[in-house]
Amino acid sequence: MKTTISLIKADIGSIGGHTKPHERLLEACKNRLEEEKGKTLIDYYVTNCGDDIELIMTHTKGVDSKDVHTIAWDAFKEGTKIAKDLGLYGAGQDLLSDAFSGNVRGMGPGIAEMEIEERPAEVFVAFMADKTDSSAFNLPLYEMFANPFNTAGLVLDPKIHDGFKFEVQDVKGHKSITLNTPEESYDLLALIGLTDIYAVKRVYRKSGEIAAVASTEKLSFIAGKYVGKDDPGMIVRAQSGYPATGEVLDPFARPFYIAGWMRGSHRGPLMPVGEKDAIPTRFDGPPRIIALAFSMKNGILVGPVDAFADVGFDKAREKANEMADIMRRHGPFQPHLLPPGELEYATISEVLKKLEPRMKKM
Ligand code: F6R
Ligand code: MG
Ligand code: MG
Repeated sequence: MKTTISLIKADIGSIGGHTKPHERLLEACKNRLEEEKGKTLIDYYVTNCGDDIELIMTHTKGVDSKDVHTIAWDAFKEGTKIAKDLGLYGAGQDLLSDAFSGNVRGMGPGIAEMEIEERPAEVFVAFMADKTDSSAFNLPLYEMFANPFNTAGLVLDPKIHDGFKFEVQDVKGHKSITLNTPEESYDLLALIGLTDIYAVKRVYRKSGEIAAVASTEKLSFIAGKYVGKDDPGMIVRAQSGYPATGEVLDPFARPFYIAGWMRGSHRGPLMPVGEKDAIPTRFDGPPRIIALAFSMKNGILVGPVDAFADVGFDKAREKANEMADIMRRHGPFQPHLLPPGELEYATISEVLKKLEPRMKKM
């Protein structure tokens, strides 16, 4: 039996700004999924990272299943009704169209799905981030699957010593390429270091099994204007033939700067937090990430362990707060402000246009 894990997420409204959804929205989503448990779905887990609701679902319908996407869409629609009744901010924000035709791809929600042959003791980690976009995963995915200074198994474990394959998307040019590591590590880095253009979509074992998948939907491209950051999710398999859970988590112990934060237009640190601390309020951030480690047997989920709640990540949070201070010091200046090509709040062009007539030739 093959099992599919589907992580589908959307921001359908939050309390007091872009902070966190109301409990009733989460309940509405849980109720919808509960109705399908034992029918279309095997199991599910619902949570939030910041203002984004995250549906983690298991089933046997494969990726891009019309049935499963419809359940997710209906759950978000139910939640949106409540969000509108409560007057929540950004109600229904990520449901960009009413013309749903059975696949949420291109409709606003973010999607990360993988179909797998379960190992006897399947382990995966679901990562969910708020106030950033999917290229925020480029650096940690490289560390997990290609950097022996992070992943001891690349050196020590014959099962992963061969390395991995990275499928990279040009999210602007709508192209993709697959590169092998360690052989093509430098080529890979030449691409994925350019985080405004390239995002890692999937990672595979050399033997072909999928190891990781990230959501790379670009909300602003779908809507044609800024509607909010993509706030990506990803699923990463761990242990026995894959990096260990601790190797998958460790890149986040060394916070790094990513694009997003306030108005999707600022560079800031990605702060690893437990589920209860995924409420970004300081300057609408700093950007957050949660990591839930699951066991799974025949599609039944066991757990999760709220991995970043570990006190071992306390220092990372402290560091991320210091890094946030350093960036905030710059106010409206780069490098805190993103360069024009990366600014999600592209309305700055309206401000600049107003000044254009007063520009004198030099
Ligand atoms: C970031 C985000 C927020 C908003 C900001 C302004 O992804 O969603 O930082 O961009 O709060 O929101 P509006 O324009 O709705 O007032
Ligand atoms: Mg929002
Ligand atoms: Mg969000």
